[in-house]
Amino acid sequence: MKRLFQKKPLHLLHEEMKDENRLHRILGPVTLTTLGIGAIIGTGIFVLTGIAAHDKAGPALMLSFFVSGLACIFAALCYAEFASMVPVAGSAYTYAYATLGELMAWIIGWDLILEYAVASATVAHGWSHYFQDFIGIFGYRLPICFQRAPFDFDVKTGLMTETGSVMDLPAIIIALIITAILVKGIRESARFNAVMVAIKLVIVLFVIGVGIFFINTDNWIPFAPFGYTGISFFGNTVIGQTGMGGVPIGMLAGAAMIFFAYIGFDSISTHAEEARNPQRDVPIAIILSLIICTVLYIAVAAVLTGMVHYDRINIDAPISDAFKQVGMPWAQMLISLGALAGITSVLLVMMLSQPRIFLAMARDGMLPQKFFGAVHERFKTPWKSTILTGLFVALLSAFLPLRILAELVNIGTLFAFVTVCTAVLIVRKTHPDFHRPFRTPFVPLVPVLGIIFCLVLMFSLPAENWLRLIIWLLAGFVIYFGYGRNHSVLHHRLSKM
Ligand code: ALA
Repeated sequence: MKRLFQKKPLHLLHEEMKDENRLHRILGPVTLTTLGIGAIIGTGIFVLTGIAAHDKAGPALMLSFFVSGLACIFAALCYAEFASMVPVAGSAYTYAYATLGELMAWIIGWDLILEYAVASATVAHGWSHYFQDFIGIFGYRLPICFQRAPFDFDVKTGLMTETGSVMDLPAIIIALIITAILVKGIRESARFNAVMVAIKLVIVLFVIGVGIFFINTDNWIPFAPFGYTGISFFGNTVIGQTGMGGVPIGMLAGAAMIFFAYIGFDSISTHAEEARNPQRDVPIAIILSLIICTVLYIAVAAVLTGMVHYDRINIDAPISDAFKQVGMPWAQMLISLGALAGITSVLLVMMLSQPRIFLAMARDGMLPQKFFGAVHERFKTPWKSTILTGLFVALLSAFLPLRILAELVNIGTLFAFVTVCTAVLIVRKTHPDFHRPFRTPFVPLVPVLGIIFCLVLMFSLPAENWLRLIIWLLAGFVIYFGYGRNHSVLHHRLSKM
């Protein structure tokens, strides 16, 4: 029992950082912030805003973005403290190992696969849709057998239905291209990401700068047609209205949905090992990228709901369609291009982060070191696990109905945020004097608010997500008790002492 809660001493983490087999330290504050923005702005803002405004929040979507952003900022301040204390690759996994013990660390590491690999699969699927949309503007169409996954979930009947396709070919191709770039090196990945981020920022600023002239304030009335709440508890609405299929609706339910749009800022902490000055730059990049994206998101939500009345917002391509509705159809191409670039960079950073979590887990003996811990001699990247991640993402996005997997991503990520906020509270007690280049302000208020906000959002998600999260975690337990527990480096090290 004691072993399950064995904690990795913080000084050990510091010693390990001096090891030879580490990643290249080449990332500065601007690149790190760019990586953050790269991971954040994507499918969430370009696709999910439509459903969230139309079905859940109306113009109050602006507030939904504010609330969700606030939850993330509380969590980000906690991430920043840890990232400055232990600037190694494992992110929340490593923080949990140092504070909550081995079992909890494994649970978080396993849970982060939902955030990174499964989110990548969701995003690759979204990329494919935008790609097919984009070539459609020029009159091209893929053969039906390559358009999508072979089956999908029908929201109306609740059953799986055949789509007539065999696989989602563009999703496979983009996942493999990104994998190749990632294996080649962090410098190449960061450069490619910077170009994609520049394109998407220009497009987002275009949407705000031009869209503002088409705002009709009458469209903001009523401001919150579904109310300001929308909290459920295991699928039963406790505060607010209930929509089709028994799901909660309202501003908070909208916030739980568009939380997906913020996922990714924490991926900066997985690059701490590649940062030149991680103790200063990682906290700055985490907070800066999040603040920039929150401001942009609220502005986009204001413009979108101001341009088009919420019940006429297109739920597949909300932003480009809004411009079409106000008489600027040419903007559709521009926005599709921005969405494509945006989603590409999200994929890049998410798929960059997953192998780095595996790497940290492998170094601790939680996963086979030979495979997951292998760093390429020349490229200095965790190449084997990068390729494995690429194949996993390609397969998942090609053949599985991603609607189901996508929901898992939000709950998994919120769970990780709750853990990191809790861990800050614990470490302040257990290691009050440990050097903290960045300190979360107003402790315990900020971590406690982070925990409360994230839990409220978790409970606002449809109930099946909890079940899926539990099944996923149980599968993780089987692997831990079958492998990790027996190979734990920390256990072997401590038992020799
Ligand atoms: N935040 C990322 C996106 O919206 C996951 O695509």
